[in-house]
Amino acid sequence: MIDMTFSGAVCPVTDTTGTLVVLCGAGGQLSETAQRLDDVTGGAVRRALAAEGVTAQKDDSGKRPKSKPDNKIIDILAPSGLVADRVILVCPNKEEKDLRVTDWDTLGGSLYSRLSGKAPVAVVTDACPVPSVAHLLAGVLLRSDRFDRYKTQKGDDDRPRSLVVYCSDPQAAEAAFAPLAAGASGVFLTRRLVSEPPNKLYPETFAAEARKLEQPGLTVTVWGEDDLKQRGMGALLAVGQGSVRQSQVVVMNWQGGADDQAPVALVGKGVTFDTGGISLKPAAGMEDMKFDMGGAGVVFGTMKALATRKARANVVGICGLVENMPGGQAQRPGDIVTSYSGQTIEVLNTDAEGRLVLADLLSCVQADYKPQAIVDLATLTGAIIVALGHDYAGLFSNSDDLSRNLTAAGQAVGEKVWRMPLDDCYDSLLKSDAADMKNIGGRPAGSITAAQFLQRFVEPGTPWAHIDIAGTTWSDKDKALSARGATGYGVRLLDRLIADHYET
Ligand code: BES
Ligand code: MN
Ligand code: ZN
Repeated sequence: MIDMTFSGAVCPVTDTTGTLVVLCGAGGQLSETAQRLDDVTGGAVRRALAAEGVTAQKDDSGKRPKSKPDNKIIDILAPSGLVADRVILVCPNKEEKDLRVTDWDTLGGSLYSRLSGKAPVAVVTDACPVPSVAHLLAGVLLRSDRFDRYKTQKGDDDRPRSLVVYCSDPQAAEAAFAPLAAGASGVFLTRRLVSEPPNKLYPETFAAEARKLEQPGLTVTVWGEDDLKQRGMGALLAVGQGSVRQSQVVVMNWQGGADDQAPVALVGKGVTFDTGGISLKPAAGMEDMKFDMGGAGVVFGTMKALATRKARANVVGICGLVENMPGGQAQRPGDIVTSYSGQTIEVLNTDAEGRLVLADLLSCVQADYKPQAIVDLATLTGAIIVALGHDYAGLFSNSDDLSRNLTAAGQAVGEKVWRMPLDDCYDSLLKSDAADMKNIGGRPAGSITAAQFLQRFVEPGTPWAHIDIAGTTWSDKDKALSARGATGYGVRLLDRLIADHYET
């Protein structure tokens, strides 16, 4: 991770060591500092910009350029006239007025991935507006995280550890950065949990991670298998019964709002490893199923972010932590289980286990908390990847308002959702001959029938949204704000939803 300090001083450009980062305008306009730098380096800044083709948007004829220009991050190595080893010019592809905060996040992420060496970094922002500075740094911070716990030979030396930001109003910049840093701390927790291997992170060790969140101010309750049996969470328990690991349910409470305010409930699927159970998955790619606790990971991360920034809202997070294994004790295709709600389920495929876990969590959180809204997150179906790929998560909801709010929050933070339909015609695919429902609806509309299954456990009057994050939890490629692996998708989305709609 990278340590940030804010300074209101004028950057001593000629005395700064390490890496000096300077923001430029979209058309290569030089800020005061960039101009000073150009002067002392004998024009190196303007030459570098020209060499990279950073010029005003409109060409001489006054016509718009044919293709959309890219953001440019330009390196000048060992510039003469300076003691700095390198100058990096950050040039957005749009005028300041056209840049959104997500563009600044992305710029920060690209900047971070261009930094190398452990030399200190100075970032000169000159007249750049405060929110833009804060988001640039948030992008740097988010991109700086990586998972190398189990590497005994760490490549620590090739990454900077500290960064000084020169800006006109350091107090304001720091204040704008603080909630983004709180969000990032939640994202880092989620990514770490999702990245942990399944022999290290299993239901009990996962629950122990929740206890650590008492420190920032959450109330944490953990139920073991005896508690779950007593409560009648038969669907959730059936999933874990093939594993030697004991299933757990974790409840986390953040009480930052008025006492009489009903909480928002966040519900997470926490299958610490999904083999498929007796309906065993194929070997190729099965290792990916360590990220099948991604929904619970997001709930943990969001709860941490909310507590860290002392959100003025009441939020309860509930996660079902189970391991789906085959074995002599495992549930079989054909088993009929009784859920916490009393509804019976014919389990025709033990690999459709996430919905069994969520069903009991949804009923339970409604019975205990009467939430004003519920959002569940789950790596629920492979089918959502077929439908939406890896950039949008699937959104299913019984509420147009909640859908609109989640869609807007997603746009605002760059964690996008796309609404999918719910309809009785899909619900009827879950009819069972032997029980109240079966747990699979067939290949067509696989993500929708999964959502229909969940809806059977939601009281009709309660606004509820289900977000299928099977495609967005993990990335095989580096992204603007995360290295290959766990993305932490969902934390900033929920944090933003709560900030915009549930805080007093
Ligand atoms: N955890 C999987 C879904 C999944 C697949 C997440 C790929 C991420 C990547 C889920 O438990 C599952 O196995 N779903 C089945 C449902 C089917 C049996 C109805 C699926 O998607 O194939
Ligand atoms: Mn499965
Ligand atoms: Zn699963």
